[in-house]
Amino acid sequence: MKHMTAFAALSAATLTATVAMAEPQAEVLHWWTSGGEAKAVAVLQKQFSDRGGVWTDMPVAGGGGDAAMSALRARVLSGNAPTAVQLKGPAIQEWYDEGVLADISDVAEAQHWDDVLPAQIAEHMKCDGHWCAAPVNVHRVNWVWANKSILEANGIEMPTTWEEFNAAADKLKAAGITPLAHGGQAWQDATIFETVVLGIGGPDFYQKALVDLDPDALTSDTMKSVFDEMRKLRGYVDDNFSGRDWNLATAMVMNGEAAFQIMGDWAKGEFLAAGKEPGVDFVCAPTPGDAGFLYNVDSFAMFKVDGKDKQDGQKLLAELIVGPSFQETFNLNKGSIPVRTDVSLDKFDDCAKKSAADMKADGAAGSLLPSMAHGMALHGAQSGAIMDVVTAHFNSDMSSDDAVKMLADAVANSM
Ligand code: BGC
Repeated sequence: MKHMTAFAALSAATLTATVAMAEPQAEVLHWWTSGGEAKAVAVLQKQFSDRGGVWTDMPVAGGGGDAAMSALRARVLSGNAPTAVQLKGPAIQEWYDEGVLADISDVAEAQHWDDVLPAQIAEHMKCDGHWCAAPVNVHRVNWVWANKSILEANGIEMPTTWEEFNAAADKLKAAGITPLAHGGQAWQDATIFETVVLGIGGPDFYQKALVDLDPDALTSDTMKSVFDEMRKLRGYVDDNFSGRDWNLATAMVMNGEAAFQIMGDWAKGEFLAAGKEPGVDFVCAPTPGDAGFLYNVDSFAMFKVDGKDKQDGQKLLAELIVGPSFQETFNLNKGSIPVRTDVSLDKFDDCAKKSAADMKADGAAGSLLPSMAHGMALHGAQSGAIMDVVTAHFNSDMSSDDAVKMLADAVANSM
């Protein structure tokens, strides 16, 4: 510095400042705070930093993302949107319609996303023909997880029908074991509910009831049977289920405090993060029923922000997220499968391989269906209306007749 002229020193400082400013920036809003989720999001953070990006983490705890979405609304209303947000399903288009999402088509086109993503999933990422979100993974929602030694000790096979599930649960209950690990939060109740709708009604019924919101399906005898089964399941949870976080329910299965959990395969991320092995410590199987794959695709949308550093950060994030290396490493941790069709599954476990095979088969059979509980099927007001009824029924002695009436009314009022 001693030999520098004042002018040179000033230019050097300006240069440093310019270089610093030019680093891609991203403030990332997400709800990945459990053990498995945190390991998975750390992969993105690392890849972003390795490419020179500066990551500002904005985690908002709360499974299913309700709290994160409230935080997002507050930020957007105050005119200070985060650069990248975990957002999915029709909420992406809703935010686009409010005029606050950035167009990431330049990255998507340069990286040929249309050639490597399944068409049905790519559709969720587009707004008025533009790419407005980058998909991370495919989670399957309709899974049952079980503690292997509990099943073996009690002579129980993984159930393939709801009758078998009930028989297994009755047997476990009689033996003093909590059959079902569950957290009483609306989104968790809804997660179970939609797997019962699929299992009892089948894929066409699921589509009519929870995607098309057909009033006949909502009030049908089939829907009454769904609520009957929900009432049975309520009898299989422990006394402390209210408000429990989903990952604590997973831990109950891990620790032998409960036999089963019905949850999407982010639960597998928890088992893996705790060093548990599929097929050895725990087993996975699709929830009872003949067919159907309820998908839940995590994705990131970029919000309109000022500043080249932030816009560069958005481009870099989008590129990394759909890139093959991230898709492999992230999903190995997250419990999901890559959304890209060209990523090898060699390093993935049998649950992931089954997920990928079923997704393909269900895709061909027309039974690859969007999850209602995880915001893939409906607008927030509609899924919210359904979830309220499901939770009200689960936490009371409401009859199935009353539940279907309430369901049809709530849905009609939400339109
Ligand atoms: C998200 C998952 C997440 C889970 C629990 C789901 O809605 O799609 O990524 O792990 O909620 O928080």
